[in-house]
Amino acid sequence: MGRRACGKLAWRFCARCLARKPFCILAMIGLTAGAMRSHENDAGVQRSPIDLVILPDGKRALTANHTAGSVSLIDLDAGTVLHELPVGKKPSALARSPDGRRAAVSNLWSHSISLLELANTRLKVIGRIESVAFPRGLAFSRDGATLYAALAGDDEVVGIDWSSRALVKRWPAPREPRQLALSHDGRLLAAASTRSGQVRCWDLDTGKPHWERSIVDGFNLRGLAFTPDDRFVLCTHIVRREFPVTKDNIEQGWVVDSRVTRLAVRELPSLTLPARQAPVSWQIALDVHGQAVGDPHGLAWGHAGKVLAITAGGTHELLLLDAAAIPWMAGDPGDFLDPRLQKNNRLRRLALGGRPLTVAFAPKRPHLAVVANYLLDAVQVVDALAGRVVKTINLGKPTRPSAARRGEAIFHDARRSHHQWFSCHTCHVDGHTCGLNFDTLNDDSYGNPKLTPSLHNVARTGPWTWHGIQQNLKAAVHKSLTQTMFGPEPSREDIADVVAFLETLTPPPHPRPAARAAAVRRGEELFRGKAGCVRCHRPPLYTSPGNYDVKLGSDGSPHTLWNPPSLLGLYNRGPYLHDGRARTLDELLRRHHTPESLRGDALHDKERSDLIAFLRSL
Ligand code: HEC
Ligand code: HEC
Repeated sequence: MGRRACGKLAWRFCARCLARKPFCILAMIGLTAGAMRSHENDAGVQRSPIDLVILPDGKRALTANHTAGSVSLIDLDAGTVLHELPVGKKPSALARSPDGRRAAVSNLWSHSISLLELANTRLKVIGRIESVAFPRGLAFSRDGATLYAALAGDDEVVGIDWSSRALVKRWPAPREPRQLALSHDGRLLAAASTRSGQVRCWDLDTGKPHWERSIVDGFNLRGLAFTPDDRFVLCTHIVRREFPVTKDNIEQGWVVDSRVTRLAVRELPSLTLPARQAPVSWQIALDVHGQAVGDPHGLAWGHAGKVLAITAGGTHELLLLDAAAIPWMAGDPGDFLDPRLQKNNRLRRLALGGRPLTVAFAPKRPHLAVVANYLLDAVQVVDALAGRVVKTINLGKPTRPSAARRGEAIFHDARRSHHQWFSCHTCHVDGHTCGLNFDTLNDDSYGNPKLTPSLHNVARTGPWTWHGIQQNLKAAVHKSLTQTMFGPEPSREDIADVVAFLETLTPPPHPRPAARAAAVRRGEELFRGKAGCVRCHRPPLYTSPGNYDVKLGSDGSPHTLWNPPSLLGLYNRGPYLHDGRARTLDELLRRHHTPESLRGDALHDKERSDLIAFLRSL
């Protein structure tokens, strides 16, 4: 029996040929692996639900399973998974049409959006939108005919016509739009841009921008929702304070704070202030002295708008706020939660464990909050009135977590920091970077903040820190846990687990992999030749283990040399250099890191743009 013949044979024949033809074993393994990939009834794969929507009947929900590349349809009453379908790599968000017949999933690492049809107990993939760079938040129009998507890699929000699959709208959005929300009347669409700290709103009737507002020092913008009366948009986020990362500063809330911002949908007329000066933005602080809130994420209104629910992924909890009692402050709310909120159960903090992300309330059963819990591989149903978890629905997971999974839990655990203000993920978002400077005192000096480096490929790009003064990754992790986070002394296993997790962090697939245009080829030649870059940035990782004087001046620390960062994934970073002084690659190569200052030859404008085309293709 030939190889091809065996490949074509159905399963039942394989038992016979197994004995005689060893390659059939390979065929069988292939088939088994194929079955594994579909995840149907495969309990052994980590699911990591990252987003969730509840269907209009209030009884079923869909989850986007980040590490399994699948979507699950869940029966919330029976506590079972009805159906699971593979979609794409690293699903990041979900939406469903108002009638509950259509759904869509953003496949972050496939740069695609899967379109699904829903029947009672089944899901069906009916199409796929390709070539959308890092799709994130999704929202359907009120009539279900248009799907809006935030493209974090293109800095755009697009509208897709469901029946023709055509992109019918393209709106530029501030840096890295991540979350979308549609007003209840269907007229306004809001997008929260995580890397620029801005919220932009569009009027869907006119197709024009409605307004854009900045959240001062805001980053990691996450949950986004209109108030039930559509008068405000709320957003959970973190605020960066300028102070060095010391134990005292952390304790005072002077490093990072967790907050909720409320933005007026319309300019509010004010009795005492001219309309232009009337406040349009309010905040509340969520942190409690000694017991802060880490990595606020999901946000939803429940119980007919009486309860505001917020998940905190880092401190593993669900915050339930009495909406009527929220003391919104125009301007800065201070470093700590208003003590009035803690009285009389106006704020309840419910321990959920794991890493709670999206929270949603069940239509028709408005006291039931449903939470996608990433690290528990589960959906939790919470009675928001009683304040307790009533059901945990397991989506499937291995019997024992791997070392990398345990490390992932530590990486996202704000309890590992002093007074639980933040986790590694707060700064190294999703193992990458939030793009902001922090003074972690890692350069043996005080008051010289450094850009948070991306941790993609970090295990292969030693020595570590911008100055390259750290030769040992385990020691770097130990220092991060004890002197950036000021958390409890980790065990040796904890450190090995975090390193195992760091070893899994690779850059995502390039959204434009075929970009081998002529300019890219010319740029590569310059990189290897005349511009002299390859001396320090050597393929395949475009770094080298040496430390160099690159004429950037002193940063005020005792160290004078710098270690070249890997240039892989450069298109997805910025600002650049150790203090983020270069906002663009053009500025970097013209002013701060010129080829001629690095023993290369000066470049013409045309050559510089070719070189940048090459750098952005890495
Ligand atoms: C407050 C923000 C912040 C937090 C929290 C944080 N880091 Fe960092 N991390 C930084 C900054 C800034 C640097 C650069 C320091 C330098 O080079 O002097 C850095 C550097 C690193 C490096 C060296 C990377 C390289 O390529 O050289 C590693 C590894 C690292 N951090 C891991 C972690 C881990 C693990 C945690 C959690 C235990 C953590 N960090 C928590 C901001 C942070
Ligand atoms: C002598 C060694 C050396 C040479 C030659 C060199 N670099 Fe660098 N490069 C470095 C070092 C060191 C850094 C980090 C500087 C810092 O810490 O701010 C760096 C940083 C960068 C960054 C910023 C990366 C980031 O994430 O912030 C880019 C982009 C870059 N180099 C591109 C180039 C290009 C393009 C060339 C050729 C024109 C080049 N480099 C030549 C050593 C070098």
